[in-house]
Amino acid sequence: MARQAHAIRPLVAGNWKMNGLQANVAEALIVRDAVDGDLASIGADVLIAPPATLMTELSAAIGKSRLLLAGQDCHAAPSGPHTGDIAPEMLKEAGASAVIVGHSERRVDHGETCAEVKAKAEGAQRAGLIAIVCVGETRDERASGFTLDVVLQQLKASLPEQSTAANTVVAYEPVWAIGTGLTPTTSDVEEVHVAIRRELAAIFGEDGERMRILYGGSVKPDNATALMAVSEVNGALVGGASLKASDFLAIVRAYESR
Ligand code: 13P
Repeated sequence: MARQAHAIRPLVAGNWKMNGLQANVAEALIVRDAVDGDLASIGADVLIAPPATLMTELSAAIGKSRLLLAGQDCHAAPSGPHTGDIAPEMLKEAGASAVIVGHSERRVDHGETCAEVKAKAEGAQRAGLIAIVCVGETRDERASGFTLDVVLQQLKASLPEQSTAANTVVAYEPVWAIGTGLTPTTSDVEEVHVAIRRELAAIFGEDGERMRILYGGSVKPDNATALMAVSEVNGALVGGASLKASDFLAIVRAYESR
């Protein structure tokens, strides 16, 4: 039986990673002005994940803007003896409405397991944040033909059981495409996104049909339109190109004519 297609509001998210000093605040304000100005009626949500040091300031600066803010990581617990960590509740209070968890740079640099990512996502949902849960295969895993196995396994082990379309976003980020300028072909992206959608629908039913699935990995102004047009791609998670407002907004504009 053909799956019923749902209208899913796309999300274009900029992950600033470990970039962002006072000098960069102006870029976020340019994005804010565009999102509230000529892009006000675009059919997509727009989000920036700044470093935690800028969260309170950006939150105050954007006020009631349509631009959303997200943390880049969080601890699973609401508080406690965890030096250097940030609780989801802290991000929420600082003005975030979402948090990225399980980014491959966290999984690789900090050895985060799927179980830890799941606990962080649960913490995010508890605090009223949208958990943006990242999955993706390495170059070797793709070369060995294990892409779907790896991605679906990460998905099953990283998503909390209580995930809904409202409190969870999945981001498919092939590790080898991050920061390299390389991207999968649109048919490779489609193959993975369709498989993720099937799995989400099998686990979460109606919510799984409506959960947003973002593509991330070297999304740029010149490839955004093609990538965002792929079936079951409901937006982008953008790294490098999100640091410059003009590039990021050019990517957001991939949704202008829809
Ligand atoms: P790039 O867009 O720089 O490849 O980074 C993607 C990413 O990791 C976003 O989370």
